[in-house]
Amino acid sequence: MFSVLVTGANRGLGLTFVRQLLNLAKPPEHVFACCRSPENAADLQTIASNNPAVKVLKLDVANKLTYKDTVHDVEQIVGDQGLNLLINNAGIISRGNVENASTEDMERLYQVNVVGTLGVTQAFLPILRRAASFTNSDDETMSIEKSAIVNISSIMGSITLNNSSSAVAYRTSKAALNMLTNCMSIEFASYGVLAVAMHPGWVQTDMGGVDKAPVTPHESVSGVLATLDKLKGLDASGKCYEYTGRTLPW
Ligand SMILES: NC(=O)c1ccc[n+]([C@@H]2O[C@H](COP(=O)([O-])OP(=O)(O)OC[C@H]3O[C@@H](n4cnc5c(N)ncnc54)[C@H](OP(=O)(O)O)[C@@H]3O)[C@@H](O)[C@H]2O)c1
Repeated sequence: MFSVLVTGANRGLGLTFVRQLLNLAKPPEHVFACCRSPENAADLQTIASNNPAVKVLKLDVANKLTYKDTVHDVEQIVGDQGLNLLINNAGIISRGNVENASTEDMERLYQVNVVGTLGVTQAFLPILRRAASFTNSDDETMSIEKSAIVNISSIMGSITLNNSSSAVAYRTSKAALNMLTNCMSIEFASYGVLAVAMHPGWVQTDMGGVDKAPVTPHESVSGVLATLDKLKGLDASGKCYEYTGRTLPW
């Protein structure tokens, strides 16, 4: 894989994606680690200062005005080869149920988890398409090596598996993200761009709860990357996977 972009890369799963991508047997030549405040992203800045493959770029997924410069910076670096993999990882949660969730919270979560994913994907689509059509082999099979969008969703967005009304804004935003992923897979199939949703497990991050969650960020991201590596062809697109590799029902 030539190039990868991760949103929300300054902490939690996003930061772990950056670290583990660099540790792959064949690491990407370019890792774009996007976050809201590069100047405060101490861990990312340390990684970037030791590894020229990493560029720390400003991207607030809820603020369209920040997209243009980031797309420009990425485009300058990747050129004709385009962007192979977009990991829409940035996300937020709130806890209320149907009776007491605030409508403001619901709007805030949709803005980041759904609208942000749509906006960022639209902004990078031309260079994802460029990667899909850039070829130095005869292999036209869709894959993350070629061109893919991975939306970090949650099992909490699965309607089939749901048995709770807690965190209703989060559950509904991830259900909407799942539908958005499905629509991306249908619309982008003819471009050769794969699109999947991914449940990373219940993970020890600020969101998952460092003391409560059973899965370490390292286990989660290793599982996600191993799962993504196996996705080949149209049949693999338009599905929701878990970090263990199993397919989850929508
Ligand atoms: N942890 C879990 O158990 C779990 C389970 C299922 C799914 N997920 C999903 O996994 C993804 C990562 O979660 P996490 O556990 O790593 O959470 P986290 O530790 O809370 O980190 C969230 C990341 O998203 C970024 N972010 C929030 N709003 C943003 C915005 N408007 N623009 C750009 N970045 C923004 C944060 O940046 P700041 O530092 O600037 O706030 C932070 O880097 C999320 O999509 C989450 O829904 C997590």
